[in-house]
Amino acid sequence: MLSAFGQLALDAAVEGAKVVSSSHGEFAVATKASKRDLVTDVDHAAERAIVAFLRKRRPADEILAEESGEHDGSTRVRWFIDPLDGTMNFVHHRPEFAVAVAAEVDGTTQAGAVVRPAYGDWLAADTEGAAGSNAAAAVSDVRRLDEALIAVGVGLFGDSRMASFRLLERLLPEVRDFRRIGSASCELFGVATGSLDAYVGIGTEPWDLAPGWALVAAAGGRCLQLTTVSGRRAYVLGAPAITDGLAGLVQRYA
Ligand code: IPD
Ligand code: CA
Ligand code: CA
Repeated sequence: MLSAFGQLALDAAVEGAKVVSSSHGEFAVATKASKRDLVTDVDHAAERAIVAFLRKRRPADEILAEESGEHDGSTRVRWFIDPLDGTMNFVHHRPEFAVAVAAEVDGTTQAGAVVRPAYGDWLAADTEGAAGSNAAAAVSDVRRLDEALIAVGVGLFGDSRMASFRLLERLLPEVRDFRRIGSASCELFGVATGSLDAYVGIGTEPWDLAPGWALVAAAGGRCLQLTTVSGRRAYVLGAPAITDGLAGLVQRYA
């Protein structure tokens, strides 16, 4: 059972997903800050639909949306919107993309929803618990790092991108294997449903991370934000038994 915030995050993400699905894989693509930072007209249209939906129901809340930036508010609530997480997958007609919405109150994530249009499924969570279209939200019960399949988010930009690859070199001998799916929300969806044991991210933005953070927390996972020895902000979320060990490696080598 979701609380009002969890349900609203889900309803907002569903609004965006309707726009994505109605594009039927037709889009116009452009680049943003780098040649691999892609955006489509579908990203923009989905974001407009989500912002309008939230503005109607929560007119005084602040919103931070990936494509349109900050929308002012005067309450303690801030919404994060990633209208299409995994745009590169979407552009390449791969199914790993999601519409993701989260709400924080006084700076703490309270609710999140991730809808995966190509899979036709969704997961939403808040402080009351989680709900999903198919799989139940539960992180894996893996106990050992060398039995863990981890997702590694690779940033789009030079410095954090190379840091992710250097970190990967250190992580690979310690874990069973890794996946780079190309959508933080889909990766965290996997962690929250137990098909991935943990997620490591460097250079991730709040809209990439907050929705999945809510899912993993409600699924019994441990969610850590840390600062590495070289001063990078990094995130480790996953099965409780392996998260501290993984965080130690990320802190030292990223
Ligand atoms: C990207 C995805 C990707 C991550 C990038 C993000 P976008 O989001 O989450 O997995 O590695 O850092 O920018 O641009 O597709 O919304
Ligand atoms: Ca994103
Ligand atoms: Ca996006």
